[in-house]
Amino acid sequence: MTAVNPKADVLHVVGGKPLTGSIHVRGAKNFVSKAMVAALLAPGVSILKNVPEIRDVQVVSDLLRLHGVSVDVEPEEGVVTIDATHVELADVADVDTLSGSSRIPILFSGPLLHRLGEAFIPALGGCKIGSRPIDFHLETLRKLGAKVDKEHEAGIHITAPDGLHGAKIHLPYPSVGATEQTLLAAVLAEGKTELSGAATEPEIMDLVAVLQKMGAQISVDVDRTIRIEGVKSLQGYRHTSLPDRIEAASWASAALATHGDIFVRGAHQPDMMTYLNVFRKIGGEFDVRDDGIRFWHPGGDLKPVAIETDVHPGFMTDWQQPLVVAMTQAKGLSIVHETVYENRFGFTKPLVQMGATIQLYRECLGSLPCRFQQRNFEHSAVIFGPTPLTGQDIDVPDLRGGFSHLIAALAASGPSEVHGISLIDRGYEDFRDKLVALGADID
Ligand code: EPZ
Repeated sequence: MTAVNPKADVLHVVGGKPLTGSIHVRGAKNFVSKAMVAALLAPGVSILKNVPEIRDVQVVSDLLRLHGVSVDVEPEEGVVTIDATHVELADVADVDTLSGSSRIPILFSGPLLHRLGEAFIPALGGCKIGSRPIDFHLETLRKLGAKVDKEHEAGIHITAPDGLHGAKIHLPYPSVGATEQTLLAAVLAEGKTELSGAATEPEIMDLVAVLQKMGAQISVDVDRTIRIEGVKSLQGYRHTSLPDRIEAASWASAALATHGDIFVRGAHQPDMMTYLNVFRKIGGEFDVRDDGIRFWHPGGDLKPVAIETDVHPGFMTDWQQPLVVAMTQAKGLSIVHETVYENRFGFTKPLVQMGATIQLYRECLGSLPCRFQQRNFEHSAVIFGPTPLTGQDIDVPDLRGGFSHLIAALAASGPSEVHGISLIDRGYEDFRDKLVALGADID
């Protein structure tokens, strides 16, 4: 993938055709990037398989290379080989050029502290779907003994003059990133770490598996407590990534929204159970096979559903946006209560311009405990359908919102122009080719 040509960053879509056919989903974006960072913990070679060709992999590869690590990516085979025998401090300005595109740099902290005694974390990027602070990350690092200097003008300078030491840490919210931060920092810390209130997403469990292969001692209790016993050294790993359950669900929602029929090779039922329950409730049909899942719209009306996004094993926040497009085609009132991010409904505005009826509310329209209660965030949505959608010019706002706009354009009658389409390359491998394979009329 090379630099984006603004003229080539527009996708012309003529909607109204059901998406039908078969596509292949490879490894999970939100695991692969973390497993690549884990390789930094050990001098030696790590080999990661089932890696998709997406921009986040490119960004992490570049970040690792800036730190003197050798990274060899074979995109066709989906194999990344990382040799972290040599690690050095990166030039601050060089790291800064990559920081706007991802939140991964913060996870370099623990490994760099262990290997070099210091780390520099630039201002972070990632999707604009809320304020996305890093207070849990920094508090975790401090508890393990790191000194965090936020006065540096270009970012945060972190040091550990006396090394990292095991600690008792509690997360006020089961943050995925802060859990990963703790794992990556505590595996080589001296002594025991107890992390309560941890996130337990399948991608985190796969990271625990990688760390165990590397020699780490980690146990996960049923009550969201993770215990880590620091070891003196780790070794490289060989691992095959779990499939991307967000991408798989996105294509499933695309099948629903376009009255289509898509076989998602690689989709893995156990990680998608909560999504599959909702998919069935709204009226979609699926067939779980050995090598993937077939998703289809059986004809007739879709049914309205009420969902609340939550941490695992709840309904993932990243599943919500593509499904909202399908909800615009269900007969009646559907409700989405977003409890993970305070500001994840910006993507609904273009859908309304396309003809959808969606009303946003500050109130919690659901029963889950929610941090945004009594706050000023429009974090609940009511979707009334079915409403015909018509093509529009759309600007991609963020990764998942952008994919949902693409689905809406494919479900709509008439032409649409989707601008800023390269943002979708961050997390959807070869989506243009996949759309063509599914019969989409795109250019
Ligand atoms: C990961 O983000 C994913 N990103 C997100 O996927 C995903 O939506 C999210 O987990 C939840 O599943 C990656 O893995 C790269 P969090 P992360 O820490 O780790 C608050 C996608 O489209 N919080 O679990 O950044 C935070 O503001 C992306 O693939 C703090 O308050 O998410 C949010 O409200 C988008 N302080 C909540 O916790 C902190 O220090 C959950 O965030 C950290 C988080």
